[in-house]
Amino acid sequence: MNTLSGKHILLGVTGGIAAYKSAELVRCLRKQGAVVRVVMTTAAQEFITPLTLQALSGQPVCSDLLDPRSEAAMGHIELARWADALLVAPATADFIARLVQGRADDLLAAVCLACEAPLAVAPAMNRAMWQQPATQDNLALLRARRVNVLGPATGSQACGETGPGRMLEPDELTRLLAGLFQGGALAGRRVLVTAGPTREPIDPVRYISNRSSGKMGYAIARAAAEAGAQVTLVTGPVALVLPEQVDGILVETAEQMHAAVMEHIADTDIFIAAAAVADYRPQSVARKKLKKSAAGITLALEPNPDILAAVAALPEPPFTLGFAAETDALEANARKKLRAKSLDMIAANVVGPGRGFEVDDNALRVFWDGGEQQFGQTRKTRLARQLVALLAHRYQTKFDKDRVIKLHAKDSA
Ligand code: C5P
Repeated sequence: MNTLSGKHILLGVTGGIAAYKSAELVRCLRKQGAVVRVVMTTAAQEFITPLTLQALSGQPVCSDLLDPRSEAAMGHIELARWADALLVAPATADFIARLVQGRADDLLAAVCLACEAPLAVAPAMNRAMWQQPATQDNLALLRARRVNVLGPATGSQACGETGPGRMLEPDELTRLLAGLFQGGALAGRRVLVTAGPTREPIDPVRYISNRSSGKMGYAIARAAAEAGAQVTLVTGPVALVLPEQVDGILVETAEQMHAAVMEHIADTDIFIAAAAVADYRPQSVARKKLKKSAAGITLALEPNPDILAAVAALPEPPFTLGFAAETDALEANARKKLRAKSLDMIAANVVGPGRGFEVDDNALRVFWDGGEQQFGQTRKTRLARQLVALLAHRYQTKFDKDRVIKLHAKDSA
C-alpha cells in the first residue's frame, strides 16, 4: 500500500530558483496518489506561475493572506486543518529564518504556524548561505521542534558554485515524505551516531589512526533513518558518501568528535557510538614536519576523552548503545564495558585480520543488563537493520518502564 495514497499534501513554494522543480514535485506526489494543494509566496511567483501549479495540482493555488475570497473558502486555518502533511519545497534561507521566528505575515508562514500536521522543509540556497552559522542555528532549532529537514543535496548550483544547498530531486522528496507516514520503529526519535576512525595529528603531515572504515556506523545511520528517526551522523574521515536523509558533521580528531557530540546531545533520544575513537593523542603536535632521526623518536601520548562514557554520565543521558571491538574474551570484555560506562546496550564483535574492520560483512553479539541477542555473519547493511530493530525494541521497553516509574512517583506524591 502506497503511504501517500489519498493523503492531503500541502505544498509551500517559496522564492528560490529551485521553485521550477516544484512543478515536477506536484506531479510526483500526485503519481503516488496524494491530493496536492499549493501555497505560494509572492517571491515564488517570480520564478514559476500559479497557473502552472494550478494546472498540475488540479486545485486552485493560494497565495494571499488577506484575500477575502480565499479567506471565505479556504483560509489559512482551513488549509492548515486540511493538510495531512505540509512540505515547503523549496524552502529559502529567508523562509527558514521566518519559520524559526514563528511569523504569520504571509499566507504560507501563517499556515505553517497554524498547522498541527507534520511539517517538512526542503532547503534550497547558495552553498555559502547554507553554511552560515545563522542558517545552521535556525535549522538546529527547527529540528529540535521536530520539523523534518529533507536534504539539501550537494552539487552544482544555479549560481555557478558547487557545494551543499541544492534542493533534493522531486522523486527523492516524494520518497522521504512518504516515510513520514510509515511510522517506523524509531518514528519521531532523534538519533545521534558516531562513525569512522579519528585522526590524531603528530605533525602537519602525519597522524595516528586505525583501520575503521565507517561502514557499520554509516549503515546504522541509514537504517535508523529508514526506521523513521531524524539522524545526525558525526563522522571521522572515511571514503563513504553521507546518506542523503542524514545530517552529517565531519570531524577529524577525537576532541572535535567529542565537541560535536556534546553540542547536539541535548536534543538526542538515542546515542549510538560506532566510531573507533583513538584512545590517545600525541601530547604535543609539532608545527613543522618532524625530521628523520637515526636514533628514532619517542612520542608522548595523552588520553582522549571517552565520548560514550561522557554521554552516559550526563545527568539526563539519552539511551546509549556502545560498541566493543575485541580480539578475545568477547562477552566478558563487552559486559565489563557495559557496566563501566553505564550503557543501555553494547554490540560486540571480534576484530582481527579480515574481520570486523574494513570488510563488508560482520557478526554481532549484543548485550544488555540481563539479556543477549546474537546476529550471525551477514552484510553490514542487513546487520544494521537487525540491530536498529532490536535497539528500537529495547528503547521502547526502557521508555515504557521509565514512564510507569514516573507515573508511580506522581501518584504517591
Ligand atoms: O573502551 P572502548 O574504546 O573499547 O569502548 C568502545 C566504545 O566506546 C565504542 O562504542 C566507541 O565508539 C566508544 N568510545 C568513545 N570515545 C572514546 C573511546 C571509545 O566514544 N574515546
